[in-house]
This record gives sequence, structure tokens and C-alpha cells, in this order.
Amino acid sequence: MKTKTVFFCKNCGHESAKWFGKCPGCGEWNTLVEQAAAPTKSRVSSPAARREEPVPLPDIGTGTAERLATGIGELDRALGGGIVPGAVVLVGGDPGIGKSTLLLQMSGAVAAGATVLYVSGEESAGQLRMRADRLGIASRDIMVLAETDVSRVIEEAAARAPGVLILDSIQTAYHPDVTGSPGSVSQVRECAARLLRLAKESGVPVFIVGHVTKEGAIAGPRILEHMVDTVLYFEGDKRLAYRILRATKNRYGSTDEIGVFEMTSDGLREVADPSGLFVSEGRHARPGSVVIGCIEGTRALMVEIQALTGLTNYAVPQRSSTGIDRRRLPLILAVLERRGGLSLGNRDVFVSVAGGVHVEEPAADLGIALAVASSYWDAPVDDRTAVFGEIGLGGEIRRVTLAGKRLAEAARLGYTRAVVPRGAVAARERPKGIEVVEVAGIGDAIEQVLGAGARRRGKRAGGAGFGAAGSGRGPGAAGPGPEEV
Ligand code: TYD
Ligand code: MG
Repeated sequence: MKTKTVFFCKNCGHESAKWFGKCPGCGEWNTLVEQAAAPTKSRVSSPAARREEPVPLPDIGTGTAERLATGIGELDRALGGGIVPGAVVLVGGDPGIGKSTLLLQMSGAVAAGATVLYVSGEESAGQLRMRADRLGIASRDIMVLAETDVSRVIEEAAARAPGVLILDSIQTAYHPDVTGSPGSVSQVRECAARLLRLAKESGVPVFIVGHVTKEGAIAGPRILEHMVDTVLYFEGDKRLAYRILRATKNRYGSTDEIGVFEMTSDGLREVADPSGLFVSEGRHARPGSVVIGCIEGTRALMVEIQALTGLTNYAVPQRSSTGIDRRRLPLILAVLERRGGLSLGNRDVFVSVAGGVHVEEPAADLGIALAVASSYWDAPVDDRTAVFGEIGLGGEIRRVTLAGKRLAEAARLGYTRAVVPRGAVAARERPKGIEVVEVAGIGDAIEQVLGAGARRRGKRAGGAGFGAAGSGRGPGAAGPGPEEV
């Protein structure tokens, strides 16, 4: 007998009987994979298995009053103030970024007042113990279960009613009622659905770890995002110590709130004052580097944007970026060409953000543009200057939210000059000690930040490419080679 198969989208979980090149659910290309169809009996996993009756709105308890604070301030912040009973939280991130470490430390912190059932499908109980020793965690209220069968996990959780259930990870979990190997779309969806039902019925909060991998794992945590209450992504550059825990979805709090940690030899340490971390150490003015004021959640952060431009060796010049919204880069470059006097058609452009942080907000536009212009003309930006602003298609600099807060943070960290959109900050909101320079358009901003002469003098330096860059001694330091701009 031939097993019946269906097609699942790896990205959104859309299910169809036929294969499509483009997913009808989310529109992504090449994301449908063939899997054995799940037996129909496992299709009953709606979280609302009980019969519910209508209730007047004000009579409904919110449940959020009894939030369980983890005791780790940065984690509580990302969660929106602690763990909500019955909430299902997905903790996603690259392998090795520190998800297990974070959850084990959370277990240690909550074990003071609640029991934890830590289900480890990735590491053996012994390995987990070794890690706990290293982290100085030794509570008897942390129960460890090295198990990958979710039906067993649910059995144990139902019997023990722990304060918190942790499943590390969803990629190693399977449910015996469902066909498909662990990590397949049908398994991931079904295991998550069962855990969701457990959480909603018993009120036990569940943390699910999900690796984000390009290759290997068939089902990324993407398909889980729709199912769970809260999604926390743990991000950062693995070679660096800093980690950001970002809430990208939260039914119980604000999204885009972040928690900042430092990975040390004895675990994750909270960083309560992270501003300034994302500016390279001992930074001094050099071409292609600009500091911007951004907002992450409710926090203002100063972040360094770096850019490099140079003559290309390819038929089509390279455009590469990390840490910024990559859809905005072509737009910013087009504006620089049309309104800023740069000629980028034969140049590679690389943009990155220091410290492995992601800056997706449009307020980063001006910083990105100025970093590219600064590299292009080999003209450094003063190291005590910070900028922010969104760029419109006409080259105009638009106002952004929370300008006063960005400015206050810049002043607090010792920046003495801020280049901001016109009318962005009212006079009474301007902190002392920082000169506020308002700009209306990109040309204006380039002039204010790189100096009026940069464009003229820099035209020569701009033609130098990577190899023969100017000395970088001052704005517009001349490099060899003339160029028509
Ligand atoms: P881990 O929590 O295992 O990552 P994940 O569960 O996301 O895959 O983190 C593993 C990394 O963290 C590993 O490279 C070692 C490092 N680490 C420390 O630097 N200090 C520590 O105290 C611990 C426990 C781990
Ligand atoms: Mg792990």
C-alpha cells in the first residue's frame, strides 16, 4: 500500500495535496516539502478541547496578575514582566547561541519558588548536570527528563504539575501518534499543538526551544510562531559575547522589547545598561563609520553602522548587508545616487552593524546613508556625532518616533553633536551639552556631517577603490586617481 503524502511549507506550515513552487500560504518559493500524511486521529489537537460557555467581558480573569517573575531582569523584560500561567513561549535562535544556558539559568532562578521540569532531548541528563554545575545551579526543584517522546513528557507534566515546563528542543521531539521523523513539519506542528493544549488546560507555562537552521532541520520554528503566545529570539554574533533576547511576538506584553546578556565563562550575565555596547571599542573617527541613535523596545541604544565601498571586480556590483533591513539598502543607495552626488553603479557596497545587533527601524536610514557616503569619499565622521532619521524617496529626511529619547541617550553617553530631522525634537526636549543640527534633505545631511568640502575634495579620493584609499587623516583626505562623479 502506498502511504498517502501531503506537502507542507517549511516557512508557514501551509498544507496542500499538491506540490507548488510558490507556497499558496505565504508566497515563498521552494519551501514545500513532501511528508507522510498524519493519521486523522491526530487532527483533533485544538487547544480548546473543553466545552466553553460565553462569559461577560469584565468577569473574565486575565491570569496575568499572577505572573511568575523569573528573577532574571532582562528575561522578565523580554517576556513583558514575567511568565504568564499557561503561556507557551518559543525560544528560537541559532544552535550554540545560548538557549539551553538561558533556560537552565531561568530554571535555577525560578526553582526558588516553583518546580521546573526540564526535558532535554538534545543533551543527556549527565551533560545537563555538568552544565548546571558550571552555572552553579543545584536545586532539587529542577527535575530533568532526558526524553524525546512528547506523549511521555505530557504524561509527566500532567502528573507532576510543574511550575514551568521546558522542552529542549522541538527539533528532537516526536509524538508516537504521528508519522514522520523528529524535526519534520508534521511532528513539529503536532508536538507543539499537544504542548499548547497541555499549557491551556493545566495552566503550566511551557518554554519550547527551536533552532533556526538554514539546512538540516526540515521545520524551522517559523511554523511555530503562529501557534505560540510569545516568541523570543536569541540573537548575536557567536564570536562576540553579547546576546540579545528579542520578543518578536507577545500576546502578554509589548513586542520588540529586548533583554541584553553577556556570555561569560560561568553563564549569561545580564547587561542592564547596554547602550554603547554596539559601538566598537576604542572607536575613533574613521571613514565609513557612523553612530546612530535607535530604539529597541522601550530602550534607546547607540549603534555603530559601518560601510565600505570600492570599485567592483564584477559585472554586477555587490550589495551586501548584515544587521539592517536589507530591503532598505537599495532604496538608500538610489537616493544617494540621485540626491547625494554619489556614483555607485560600479562600486561594491557593504554595510554592517557592530556587535551583531539587528537594526530594522527606518530611523537607521540616515546613518546607513552617511556611512556609505563617508566611505565613498573617504571622509571620516566626527566620533562625537550621532545621527538618526528616515530617508524618503525624494531624499528628504523624515521625522522618527521617540526622537527626544534618542537624543537624551546620545547626550548621556557623551556625544556632543546630533544630526536629526528638521523639527524632530522640540527645544524643551533638547538635553544640555549636545548641539542639535537639523537637516531637511540628504544633501544637507552630507554637508553637515562630512563637511561642505568633502564632496568636492573627495571626488578624487572616491575613485581610489579599496586598495588605494586615502590616508584618512581628515575629511576628504585626498587619495590618488581622478574620477568623474
Ligand atoms: P547553549 O546554551 O548550549 O546553546 P544552544 O542551546 O542555543 O544551542 O550555549 C552553548 C555555548 O555557550 C557554547 O558555545 C559554550 C557557551 N557557554 C559559555 O560560554 N559559558 C557557559 O557558562 C556556558 C554554559 C556555555
Ligand atoms: Mg541547547
